[in-house]
Amino acid sequence: MIYLNGSFIPIEDARISVLDRGFIFGDGVYEVIPVYSHRPFRLTEHLHRLQKSLDAIQLKNPYTDIEWAKLVEQIIASNEGDDQYLYMQVTRGVAPRDHAFPKVVTPTVFIMSSPLVVASKELIVAGVSAITANDNRWIRCDIKAISLLPNVLLRQMAVDSGATETLLLREGFLTEGSASNVFVVKDKLLLAPPKSHLMLPGITYDVVLEIADKHQIPYEIIEISEYDLRTADEILLTSSTKEIMPITLLDGKKVGSGKPGNVFAQLYQYYQNYKVTIMRGESL
Ligand SMILES: Cc1ncc(COP(=O)(O)O)c(C=O)c1O
Repeated sequence: MIYLNGSFIPIEDARISVLDRGFIFGDGVYEVIPVYSHRPFRLTEHLHRLQKSLDAIQLKNPYTDIEWAKLVEQIIASNEGDDQYLYMQVTRGVAPRDHAFPKVVTPTVFIMSSPLVVASKELIVAGVSAITANDNRWIRCDIKAISLLPNVLLRQMAVDSGATETLLLREGFLTEGSASNVFVVKDKLLLAPPKSHLMLPGITYDVVLEIADKHQIPYEIIEISEYDLRTADEILLTSSTKEIMPITLLDGKKVGSGKPGNVFAQLYQYYQNYKVTIMRGESL
């Protein structure tokens, strides 16, 4: 079952107008929330980021956090599987085509659930490959906007070259991946690019830094140059659906030893432990 504008219906029956501004202009924002053992992971943080995205595009939040939480609970309950991921999207709604905001319009709200399949043990042990590309997106990458054409093209570059992710460089500095945040390890120090309008403030990014704090893994939030990236001992990517993954090949060259490193191994294990504790209602 999906949720669309007040109704829970099978996805096959879901209909929206071709005049929806999401369809016409990509005028909307979204969130992706992982669900473990039927519980949404970091729901408060995801709803907070949704609010920031809505504010950034001047769209009034159609629901309170309590209403969102209720919908999330209902969607989880009406779908199979302990582990799911929720996609929720709010667009400005249906109106005659005109770039400017319509004076009166009702937002379109859509929530769906898909099975969450986390990375296999083999992938975690071997690592994945990435390529680099020029970050040619707009400069409001902090908004989780549904207009993702640049990200789509950048991610396709990775697929076309047999890689998992495209890491983005803007004016000589690492911003993030086409659909993930990226960390680097140099001399046992975890480096994280500072949040700015040039990257999405990842929920998983925050979890990684909280874990690093809690377990005294030394880290620094600092601009990461292309040189730092190419000479890194380890590179990690994070996202709600990919969790934490090691990148062991960059543009066809080994990252460090070519195997997932120690910092990755620690963060990965702590992340897995954290998932279990939070599902029991405990804190980090
Ligand atoms: C461009 C981009 N950066 C970063 C992320 C990671 O964000 P989160 O950890 O909140 O999933 C995503 C998630 O899909 C993304 O699309």
